[in-house]
Amino acid sequence: MKFFADTADIDDIKELAATGLLDGVTTNPSLIAKSGRDFMEVTKEICSIVDGPVSAEVVALDHETMMKEAEVLRKIADNVCIKVPLTIDGLKTCKALTEDGTMVNVTLCFSANQALLAAKAGATFISPFVGRHDDNGFNGMELIEDIRLIYDNYMFETEILVASVRHVTHVLESARIGADVMTAPPKVIKALFNHVLTDKGIEGFLKDWQATGQSIV
Ligand code: E4P
Repeated sequence: MKFFADTADIDDIKELAATGLLDGVTTNPSLIAKSGRDFMEVTKEICSIVDGPVSAEVVALDHETMMKEAEVLRKIADNVCIKVPLTIDGLKTCKALTEDGTMVNVTLCFSANQALLAAKAGATFISPFVGRHDDNGFNGMELIEDIRLIYDNYMFETEILVASVRHVTHVLESARIGADVMTAPPKVIKALFNHVLTDKGIEGFLKDWQATGQSIV
């Protein structure tokens, strides 16, 4: 499963990229606002740090303006992936862009039927929002299971990008189901490394090692 960071924070992206485990980045208008940076400038900087897809979202609601915005955004770098909302105009834009060889991430997906539409429109990625789904009394991971089943039934190549990830269990469940990608806030990705028994084990080994009085280097 690929790991994308769901952030526009450059320091966090650099830190995660240095682990060699970061496959891409997703941003949205709220994350850009949170960064306090200019959209074009920060997106360009992210694209220079990460080799994989970097999602940059359009803000227009109509197809014609979405296409104009996508035209500007895709010139930022070769690894820009245009993010469009799951609406009729968003999917028209998705079809036009993917037919032209541009990567498209269809966002704000909350049902398996919506995911089916996105795949038919040729989306590179579909982003079901599991956290927001859970917040509203639904089961986010059941949505991922349904989409996996449908995409496998018809051999759609659209990648399932689990979004709105809130905790490490969302990541584990995504991997169990066979999602292609998950995007998570840096704090969730960093939490994946942690285990109390790892910390305790290191502490014990170090204590015993120090008692030997030896050094490796
Ligand atoms: C990513 O593509 C989405 O925009 C993001 O995961 C949404 O997360 P949130 O529900 O925590 O805002």
